[in-house]
Amino acid sequence: MTIFSQQAVTAVLPQRTVAALKTGRLVLRAPHADDATAMARLLADRRIAINTARIPYPYGIADAEQFITSVNRLDGEATFVVTLDAALIGICAVEPREGGPEIGYWIGVSHWGQGYATEAVRALIDYTFADLAHETLQAGTRVSNPASRRVLEKCGFQWTGVRLSRIRAINSAAPTDRYRLDRRLWLSLKSWSCAERVA
Ligand SMILES: CC(C)(COP(=O)(O)OP(=O)(O)OC[C@H]1O[C@@H](n2cnc3c(N)ncnc32)[C@H](O)[C@@H]1OP(=O)(O)O)[C@@H](O)C(=O)NCCC(=O)NCCS
Repeated sequence: MTIFSQQAVTAVLPQRTVAALKTGRLVLRAPHADDATAMARLLADRRIAINTARIPYPYGIADAEQFITSVNRLDGEATFVVTLDAALIGICAVEPREGGPEIGYWIGVSHWGQGYATEAVRALIDYTFADLAHETLQAGTRVSNPASRRVLEKCGFQWTGVRLSRIRAINSAAPTDRYRLDRRLWLSLKSWSCAERVA
């Protein structure tokens, strides 16, 4: 819920390197300047912006260019473009926030319902705990967004409550479900395998 700010840090902090991550079907990598056109094309669909905190709507190439140059500058931040067969289909990110690091993500509408968000967010979570050494992650999703809730639940996030969050694209606040995942729960889920049946 948190990501996609046009951070005012561009001028002061150097852009950091983030890893490239390969999952079963996707590659997550740092955004490049030439991703702006694909980002703007996908974000022309309002259904994405209205479910995130800070993506503006309407969304133009200049917004995408500003986003791409502003990300990956903060300590503890990692912003990835999500690619399928080398084509950009979404974004996922972790960034430091009040109360701890928070993840956010979106997938282009024509790719919804195929497990891509879950696959990308799982890779992001692994990177966050293993490489960035965060101890907890938080996430938020509008209460009217069951698909995003389901993504978070499939990734092990636990519901912690509801609060009002500002949604830039609707220029208003909306109730959001809040979620949390800590390192110990993540480690437990990662180590859980089926018992061997011995009798
Ligand atoms: C939320 C979003 C990322 C999901 O992407 P996706 O690639 O379709 O997600 P997945 O396919 O990995 O998982 C979606 C899950 O939600 C379920 N789902 C979808 N619509 C649903 C609905 N109306 N009610 C209940 N469950 C629903 C799917 O069945 C799936 O669960 P399952 O695997 O158990 O069947 C995508 O809809 C999106 O980008 N939305 C706009 C931005 C956004 O909401 N970002 C999150 C907040 S930052």
